Amino acid sequence: MLFYFSGTGNSAYVAKRISEVTGEEICSINDKIKSDKLAPKTVDNERLIFVVPTYGWRIPRIVDSWIRNSHFPGNHQVYFVMTCGSDIGNAGRYLRKLCNAKDLDYRGCAEIVMPENYVALFTTPEKEEAAAIIERAEPAISGVIDDIVKGNNLDEPGQTVSGKIKSSLINTIYYPTIIHAKKFYATDACISCGKCQKDCPLNNINMANGKPTWGKNCTHCMACICGCPAEAIEYGSHSKGLPRYQCPK
Ligand SMILES: Cc1cc2nc3c(=O)[nH]c(=O)nc-3n(C[C@H](O)[C@H](O)[C@H](O)COP(=O)(O)O)c2cc1C
Ligand code: SF4
Ligand code: SF4
Repeated sequence: MLFYFSGTGNSAYVAKRISEVTGEEICSINDKIKSDKLAPKTVDNERLIFVVPTYGWRIPRIVDSWIRNSHFPGNHQVYFVMTCGSDIGNAGRYLRKLCNAKDLDYRGCAEIVMPENYVALFTTPEKEEAAAIIERAEPAISGVIDDIVKGNNLDEPGQTVSGKIKSSLINTIYYPTIIHAKKFYATDACISCGKCQKDCPLNNINMANGKPTWGKNCTHCMACICGCPAEAIEYGSHSKGLPRYQCPK
């Protein structure tokens, strides 16, 4: 079974590419979290593949918790594929520990560089640049598919001092200080369509008098701000004038 989490479509696209070749059944972690459900029952010896974005040089904490709370009885070989804007740091070290804790057979963690989607903090690419980045990612995606089909371990980026610092110290500081929804707001361009509320995997958006309001349960997935058809959502002043990224595939 292939599980994926995705805010703006990069990981969903990579998941689709893998399943098209391997025939893996696909399960959206977004949908499961939104409906307060854990992983469906898996079959003994079934291969598990997780395709997720990189948040703070590790997998999203919301996904980590969901995996920890889910049950995967039996033997399972587990492959992680992390999409990212630049690098996944030392994420593999934590995934290995996660698998040990869940009695799962860790088969590695691949890094796939895709367009940056973090419009709240960084600069997102224009359409042409994004298309070129995805084109450059295709050989790496094909390589991952090849390894999974052959039963090889996935190649992980080498451990570096900066990767270790980013995935440990910076991740630990970053989550409680940066990840919150306090800076989201809707402008007068909002057409009250409710898509942001529907798209939020954490049910963190409510509609009040036809306009969205944000609660405290946000994982910064960027689905709301990047998916708004009227580009009516801003994050403080940083997002103003930046392209809203959604995977074109
Ligand atoms: C909250 C957040 C944190 C991120 N942290 C990282 C990071 O540590 N390293 C990196 O290379 N990209 C980082 N990114 C970029 C995303 O991992 C990347 O664009 C990913 O492909 C988005 O996947 P999605 O479209 O499936 O949501 C971050 C993006 C967000 C929204
Ligand atoms: S998706 Fe955009 S236009 Fe639709 S309700 Fe949300 S903010 Fe308004
Ligand atoms: S509020 Fe927006 S950024 Fe936060 S989890 Fe929901 S969709 Fe993602």
